[in-house]
Amino acid sequence: MFTRKLTEDETKKIRLIESFVRNKHKESDSHDFSHILEVTQYAIKIASLVSEKVDPFILICGALLHDIGKTNLTFKNMHGLIGSAIAEEFLDALGYTDEDLKPTRDSICRIVARHTPTTMVPPETTEEKIVFDADCLDRLGIIGVLRGFIGKSGSITGILEQKMKTRANDYEKLHYNESRSIGKELNDQTLSFISLIRTKLEKRKASIEELDLGEAIDETLKLEAGLDEIFE
Ligand SMILES: [Fe+2]
Ligand SMILES: [Fe+2]
Repeated sequence: MFTRKLTEDETKKIRLIESFVRNKHKESDSHDFSHILEVTQYAIKIASLVSEKVDPFILICGALLHDIGKTNLTFKNMHGLIGSAIAEEFLDALGYTDEDLKPTRDSICRIVARHTPTTMVPPETTEEKIVFDADCLDRLGIIGVLRGFIGKSGSITGILEQKMKTRANDYEKLHYNESRSIGKELNDQTLSFISLIRTKLEKRKASIEELDLGEAIDETLKLEAGLDEIFE
């Protein structure tokens, strides 16, 4: 649950961060601003459902900045730590160097660093766990599955199988029952989408196996026969 409402100054700062993040994510191949917006919306939803106390400013800023280190695919396994450094620099520029504001800045930067398992430092505070869950939820959705194809090589079936394994892990890693109930709905939608793709792929495979090369050769021979007749 949220402990308080946002102040006017915090709302202005959130708008500045939103504009910074929107601009930076224009350069991203896989994690565009729509992902950031989805994760922020999931984070707000989870926060309003859990019984633990949540600071709205820390949560929203952390969610908005969580992938700021992933605006391209370089060093993607380090994007939590890189993003945390970028977030700190940006928040300092907004005036978060004051002693009384530093704890807020540090809480936001910790969310950025710990939102991903690739950092190998698990989330601890309520806000950190919520943004972690919100990020997992966006991967569970259909768009999350499609995003998994970007930059990958190999067969569609192979990538899909790999993606299914990651999805199962993502679901298990969720911290809150509230996140799990949102995830269940997304999971069901995505599973029916994946089963549709699998059916199409199976049909395509079956049709290739049933193709008769003999018929194709016969057709070619007829054509050759036709040509011979022309040259006679
Ligand atoms: Fe991330
Ligand atoms: Fe993310």
